[in-house]
Amino acid sequence: MGSPRHIVALVPAAGQGVRLGEQLPKAFVPVGGTPMLTLAVDGLIASGVVDHIVIMAPDALIDAAVAMLPAGPVPVSVVAGGVERTDSVRAGLAAAPLATHVLVHDAARALTPPSLIARVVAELVAGHPAVVPGLPVTDTVKAVDADSVVTGTPDRAGLRAIQTPQGFDARLLRDAYAQNLPATDDAGLVEMLGAPVRVIPGDPLAFKITTQLDLRLARTLLADNPTRAVVRP
Ligand code: C5P
Repeated sequence: MGSPRHIVALVPAAGQGVRLGEQLPKAFVPVGGTPMLTLAVDGLIASGVVDHIVIMAPDALIDAAVAMLPAGPVPVSVVAGGVERTDSVRAGLAAAPLATHVLVHDAARALTPPSLIARVVAELVAGHPAVVPGLPVTDTVKAVDADSVVTGTPDRAGLRAIQTPQGFDARLLRDAYAQNLPATDDAGLVEMLGAPVRVIPGDPLAFKITTQLDLRLARTLLADNPTRAVVRP
């Protein structure tokens, strides 16, 4: 018999958010009066499928992050993140020794529906070792060289824009991080090990808040549907 299932969500929230250009690190910027990080954690808790949440925050904002968290049914820990996103995820993994399955979920995807989180976990516990949500791309994508000359046009039908939460068998993700290779997402590290990564349908609401335009969209969406925003004292 295997060990009991223990699903840990790691929430990278240690980025500075340079492209957003706000005063605060991105995860701490409010959307509809609530910081992105709080919205993301609320979504994970509302999914009902997560046993423990570990937030990776900027060193100077660990106390601020702790103060923002809900006292609820799911334990939440806050640890210091790192210089790169992979450093932050590595720190989160170290704080989750009991995990059998790990979700990595960007704080910047603050409006991710709980139903998407539950779908990722359902596929994971059904036995898929790596599960990521993705959406068909609507733009044509070109490959270019260093001089911005097009080198190819991949068939759009075979492309997906990948979101979070990305779900993994915990041992597989630890093995992937042990390789110390660069990658822009966690699934990319797992792919380098040759493990199959399953893509399930994503959700447009799981978009990453990166630019001011994204922030305006998120604020408008929350204004239209304020039940997603939990205002805390
Ligand atoms: O910068 P980007 O939008 O790709 O960051 C995605 C997520 O990773 C954000 O929630 C950000 O706070 C987090 N991050 C992190 N540590 C870093 C860089 C980014 O936790 N060093």
